[in-house]
Amino acid sequence: MQEKTKIVFEDYKKIIEQKLDEYIPVKYPEEIWESMRYSVLAGGKRLRPVLCLETCKVLSGDYTQAIPTACAIEMLHSQSLIHDDLPCMDNDDYRRGKPTNHKVFGESTAVLAGDALLSFAPQIIIQKTPKTVPEQSILRVLEEFLVSAGAEKLIAGQVVDIASEGKQIDKQTLNFIHDNKTAALFKLSLRTGAILGGADENKLKALTDYAEKLGLAFQIMDDILDVTSTLEELGKTPGKDEKEGKVTYISFYGLEESKKQLSSLCSEACDILEKNNIDSDILKEIAKNISERVN
Ligand code: IPE
Ligand code: IPE
Ligand code: MG
Ligand code: MG
Ligand code: MG
Repeated sequence: MQEKTKIVFEDYKKIIEQKLDEYIPVKYPEEIWESMRYSVLAGGKRLRPVLCLETCKVLSGDYTQAIPTACAIEMLHSQSLIHDDLPCMDNDDYRRGKPTNHKVFGESTAVLAGDALLSFAPQIIIQKTPKTVPEQSILRVLEEFLVSAGAEKLIAGQVVDIASEGKQIDKQTLNFIHDNKTAALFKLSLRTGAILGGADENKLKALTDYAEKLGLAFQIMDDILDVTSTLEELGKTPGKDEKEGKVTYISFYGLEESKKQLSSLCSEACDILEKNNIDSDILKEIAKNISERVN
């Protein structure tokens, strides 16, 4: 009986794909909307929006109320990737198995598509969140979203990532980069899902801690795949970190030690769920499977 109503990762993913397609129209001037749609609908793993929906549900919230927020987070993530791939940033030609946005639409449209997604995403939260959600919760979600997207979080991480190229940095700086450029959006996903699910402060803190471990582990795996994978499997060009002189977990600790730290972080993330009675197979599986992913 329970099995029938059980929602799995793929169910959430389908909802996200369908809603992203619905939320981003093509209107005049078509070039910009096509460019936004090209990157957002290019078929990512949709990990962050799934985390948001599942977190809302595990707290006994109505996860459908979190769909606009989950989609907004995926738009923000896609924006960060479009800009991350630009020649003035990481200079990448492939993303999600396709040519990068600027390769198809040109640099100026790619910059503008990123900007447009960044301002479109909070509009979606405001316009599409059901009116049954208290305005106070929507305001909290918006604040979380805007802080995470900005110079205190994601952009801070990206700035220090770029500034550290070819330099020797310390452990704290490496963790600052990973925590902000990557874990910030994981924390955003869990925290907004938790807020919309009506979490108390203890659960919110536990879910934030879980997301921080997960985000860090996720970026370590991204650094590992950059060394060990192929373009076909990864959907982006491997070997770029070394080429660009990036400081990564691999360049800092070596491959074996990075794998060990990754595995500890994933166990710590699972322990947080258990200790705080957060009973979600999806959250557990995501943490367990980080080191199994191939793209
Ligand atoms: C790529 O994120 C950027 C990093 C934070 C490493 P994902 O690996 O989640 O990318 P998609 O969304 O599946 O393409
Ligand atoms: C990901 O860092 C962080 C953001 C895109 C914000 P990377 O630069 O390592 O991501 P990939 O490897 O290009 O996906
Ligand atoms: Mg980068
Ligand atoms: Mg990059
Ligand atoms: Mg990378």
